[in-house]
Amino acid sequence: MPSSLRLASSFVVAACIFPRLISAVPSVSDPCAAIAGKTFVPPADALACYKAFPFSEKLRQNVLTNVARVFDFFTFENYYLNSPAPFQESTVNIRGKIAKINSTKYQTDYDFNKDLYDFTTQLNDGHTRWFPSCYTIFQNILPAPVITIEEKGVQGVYVAFDSVDFLSQLGPAYTGYFDSIKFDWKRLQGAKVIEIDGQEPYTYVDKIARTVSGNYLDHNVRVNSVFSSYRISGTSFSQRLGDLAGPTTVTQSSLTFKLIPVNSTKAETVNVPFLASYNGAPFTDSKSFWSTNCAANENTNGVDLKTLKTSELPRRLAKASIIQDGSRNAVGINLPPQFVPTLPPLPGSEGVIKSYALPDKKTGILFVGSFEPDDFFAFQSDVVAAVKSFKAAGITRLLIDLTNNGGMAQVL
Ligand SMILES: *[C@@H]1O[C@H](CO)[C@@H](O)[C@H](O)[C@H]1NC(C)=O
Ligand SMILES: *[C@@H]1O[C@H](CO)[C@@H](O)[C@H](O)[C@H]1NC(C)=O
Repeated sequence: MPSSLRLASSFVVAACIFPRLISAVPSVSDPCAAIAGKTFVPPADALACYKAFPFSEKLRQNVLTNVARVFDFFTFENYYLNSPAPFQESTVNIRGKIAKINSTKYQTDYDFNKDLYDFTTQLNDGHTRWFPSCYTIFQNILPAPVITIEEKGVQGVYVAFDSVDFLSQLGPAYTGYFDSIKFDWKRLQGAKVIEIDGQEPYTYVDKIARTVSGNYLDHNVRVNSVFSSYRISGTSFSQRLGDLAGPTTVTQSSLTFKLIPVNSTKAETVNVPFLASYNGAPFTDSKSFWSTNCAANENTNGVDLKTLKTSELPRRLAKASIIQDGSRNAVGINLPPQFVPTLPPLPGSEGVIKSYALPDKKTGILFVGSFEPDDFFAFQSDVVAAVKSFKAAGITRLLIDLTNNGGMAQVL
């Protein structure tokens, strides 16, 4: 465990080691120039820009050598070869997979990176992933985030009941696109979902949990990630799109639902288009897209700690956080105000910890949104402060809410 935690940051840093040597495929119409300056673009256009860069054997060797060396320190390698129940979903021969990626013929640099991205994502270990900075810079957003809820004792999948308030926060550049193609996404809010992509909704959700979500070994926690839900962002509440409606990949252009809209009894089939959100630095064409987002520079190559004096070394406290797509690709969407808790937070609610006493005055809620931004020691004192305030409020029952908590503090 400890060594893999320490590796987390080096692996993520390794995502930016591309040398400045790729030049865009010369073409009459440059697919990156075609989308330059736009905040929202159809995913197929984003993908065309990603695919403007030819495969480079030199980059593959550079990247895979670093990846293989990181795995030399990965203490879970044997675990993945022979995973115990119920975690076999992540079973993989890591060296075999690297060898396969090393020998596969790829057309573009994107294709190589996407393969590596999928492989590390499907390890379902949020500490050990490959984030090629240029190819995770768009987030694909579907105007139909889904939730799961029980109604009259039966669980079902629905389009989020707040999807209009929630997605309207993306502004007219997002919603205007759907107006321009005359797609009425607002009427889908709250619709009961009967099929997704021709499958029973939970079957499709399981597929996303298996292939897209990553981060957590437990399948069921990944299923929760597929749905839209609240989380802490910074120190305030926000809402995640969920991995069905907000993947980092731009490979899907639309998703077909069979659903029953609110106030209707008739099932209908609706093909819902995605729109990709650009979260990177400005660029004007493929050349500048590459130099701004992909090429290595002084900041992406990390710091050679061996050249620093002991007094200059950063204070290293054990901390490992699971990297959530949403926090990297900062599509900032707040939790619509009607869902923000109105109970006054108890004294000691600090940063990522929010404590509340329910009206029965017996039940306390300890919402631990993250183990960041504090270090292990500060986190401990925040927990002690929260427990003290529960005691002072006469709380005898405690509910600990770890929804979308992506961080874990560990002592090495
Ligand atoms: C990939 O293949 C090349 C050529 O066979 C080899 O030299 C290199 O060591 C391999 N890299 C990895 C990480 O296995
Ligand atoms: C559904 O019908 C109710 C009652 O007529 C109405 O208040 C509500 O606005 C309708 N909702 C939608 C989405 O049409």
